[in-house]
Amino acid sequence: MAGRKVITTQVAIVGGGPAGLMLSHLLAKEGIDSTVIELRSRQEISETVRAGILEHGTVNLLVDSGVSDRVLRDGDRHDGIELRFNGESHRIDFQDLVGESVWLYPQTDVFMDLAARREADGGDVRYSATDTSIHGIHGGSPTVWFTDADGTDYELRADFIAGADGSRSHCRMQIPEADRKWYFHEYPFAWFGILAEAPRSSEELIYANSANGFALISQRTETVQRMYFQCDPGEDVNNWDDERIWEAFRSRVNGNGFELKEGPVIDKTVLKFRSFVHTPMRHGKLFLAGDAAHTVPPTGAKGLNLAIQDVRVLFEGLDSFYKTGSTRLLDVYSDRALDRVWKAQHFSYWMTSMLHTPAEADDFSRARQLGELNSVVSSRHGRAYLAEAYTGWPAGR
Ligand code: DHB
Repeated sequence: MAGRKVITTQVAIVGGGPAGLMLSHLLAKEGIDSTVIELRSRQEISETVRAGILEHGTVNLLVDSGVSDRVLRDGDRHDGIELRFNGESHRIDFQDLVGESVWLYPQTDVFMDLAARREADGGDVRYSATDTSIHGIHGGSPTVWFTDADGTDYELRADFIAGADGSRSHCRMQIPEADRKWYFHEYPFAWFGILAEAPRSSEELIYANSANGFALISQRTETVQRMYFQCDPGEDVNNWDDERIWEAFRSRVNGNGFELKEGPVIDKTVLKFRSFVHTPMRHGKLFLAGDAAHTVPPTGAKGLNLAIQDVRVLFEGLDSFYKTGSTRLLDVYSDRALDRVWKAQHFSYWMTSMLHTPAEADDFSRARQLGELNSVVSSRHGRAYLAEAYTGWPAGR
C-alpha cells in the first residue's frame, strides 16, 4: 500500500454533525485551524429527521457567532409549553416565570446553516470519509487516519482531537476501560415519531400524559407537523397504518373540546432511548463532546443543546490554550461540561418518568404521577423549575 498522505492541523475534529461543525466554526473565528472528518455524506445528514427545540443560549451562540440568523427569521419563538393531563392543559409560561424562550428550529437546519457557513469560510470538512481511526491520544502526537471520498488515505496530525462522533462514537471506544466510568439507565418505553401533512393543532408544544401513555404534539411548518407517542421499544412501524396511529394520538390527547388536526403520515420511526454518560470527558489529547460522551432520552429536547454547550466550553479551553499557553481551562473541561450534563440527565429523566405511563402501572403509581404533575403546575416554584430547565440553565462555571 502506498503511504498515507500526511496533513497537519491544530484541532482534528472527528464528527461533522452540529457539534463538530460548531467547534470548527468557533475555532476558525479565532484563527485556530481545524479539520473535520465525517463518515456520512452532507446530504445524508441534511435528510435525517431530528428534534426541534433550541434553548435561548444555543440560539444566541448561533446568531452571535455569525452562523446564521435564519433561526430568528424561519424559526418560531416559543414562550411556553402546555402540560396536559386528566383531560386539561396547563400552560408553563416561560417568559413570565424565567424571562426566557426557546426556538422551534429543527436540528437538521442547524446542521445546514453550519455546513453552509463552514463552506463559505473555506473550512476543511471531509464528508463521506471511510476507515477513520484515531491514534496517539495517550502520548504527545495524536493522529486521525482516514480515507477521503476520493479514496486517498490520510494521516491527519493535530495537537488535539475532539471526538464529536455521536452516540456510537469510535473515539470513545479508544479510551481504556480502566480510565473511564460509564453510567447507564434503560427505560421501558420508546417514542413512535411521525411527520404528518396537517395544519398546526396548537401554537405551542403539548406534552400530554394519559392513562394510555405519553404523547408530544410539536410542529414543523404550516403544513407539516411533528408528533410522538409512547410505544414499546420493540414496536415495528410497519404494523401501524395511519388510522391506528391517529387513534393512538386521539386516545392520549383529545378531549374536553380539544381535537388534534389529522392528515396523511409521511414519515414514521421508532426512537429508542436511554441515558448514558461517559466520564471523564477527556483522555489525554482527546476531548469528547455531545452524544459521543452522553445521551439523554428525548423528553425535553436536551441532546443538541447539551452538545452545543460542550462545544462552547471546549472552545473556551482551546482558545485560551492557543492564546496564552495555559492548559487550565482544558484541564477543567470535563468537570465544567459534566456539571450541565448531569443537570440535563436529571431533567430528561424527570420529564420522562413524570409524563410516561409504564405498562405495568398500578393504581398507586398512576395516582402518584397525577399528584406529581399537579404539584408542578399548581405551584409557581414548580412551574419555574421546569421553565428554567427547559429554556436552559445559565452558562456554567
Ligand atoms: C421535539 C422533540 C423533543 O424531544 C421535544 O422534547 C420537543 C420537540 C421536536 O422534534 O419537535
